[in-house]
Amino acid sequence: MINDYTVIQKVLHWLMAGIIMLDLFIAQKFGNYMEIADRLESRVDHSTMGLLVLTLFIIRLVLRMIYGAPKEDSTSPVWQVWMAKIAHGLLYVLMGLLVGSGLLTAVSATSSTEVFGIFDITLGRMNDEFFDFVRQFHEFFTEVMIVLVVIHVVAALYHQFIRRDNLLLKMLTFKRS
Ligand code: HEM
Ligand code: HEM
Repeated sequence: MINDYTVIQKVLHWLMAGIIMLDLFIAQKFGNYMEIADRLESRVDHSTMGLLVLTLFIIRLVLRMIYGAPKEDSTSPVWQVWMAKIAHGLLYVLMGLLVGSGLLTAVSATSSTEVFGIFDITLGRMNDEFFDFVRQFHEFFTEVMIVLVVIHVVAALYHQFIRRDNLLLKMLTFKRS
């Protein structure tokens, strides 16, 4: 079995981590009062970025199926190995739910949302109640994702600085092993 993620898997990990964390932070403004014009413009930018994340997510899933994950560290307690597997699985599920619910929110919007400034992804004939209904699921998934990412980062720092097994450093090393 392989003992490291491939370079492309690592690049995708950090690229997606950067975009998702930025979006988690920036898109919080949708929860506050916004001028309608500003909101619609931001919604287009956010949805365009979201579609990019959706594309990267699909590529990442396919690569994960092809290349798998590194063999677990045999010195780690069994419960930690299982916790890591479950946490990584949940992060994948949440990434899927986040982009899926985001897409559903965008297509349910009552004002046109022209992604990449080219095509409108809204389905039309929706009402604001339905948009708000779908949007609350997207909002809920963003909150669950924040909790998972915090746990994930704490675990990465624990490995790097307490267990000192260089897990984080390995994830940041972009050369073939
Ligand atoms: C990269 C993953 C994503 C993250 C982290 C994210 C994050 C967020 C957050 C934090 C909000 C505000 C929720 C609130 O507090 O009310 C939001 C709203 C929204 N998101 Fe996403 N989102 C993501 C993906 C997507 C995708 C793929 C789409 C569509 C293609 C999308 C479309 C929307 C729309 C339409 C809204 C509502 C905007 C409004 O209220 O005017 N999101 N998103
Ligand atoms: C939105 C943010 C993030 C998401 C969704 C995420 C998701 C994931 C996933 C699913 C894996 C398993 C590898 C794979 O199959 O791709 C992973 C591995 C890893 N992540 Fe993240 N990650 C995020 C941010 C971070 C951050 C900020 C750090 C560092 C502080 C980090 C450190 C690591 C490390 C060290 C591994 C390797 C773990 C191992 O081999 O057991 N991640 N991440």
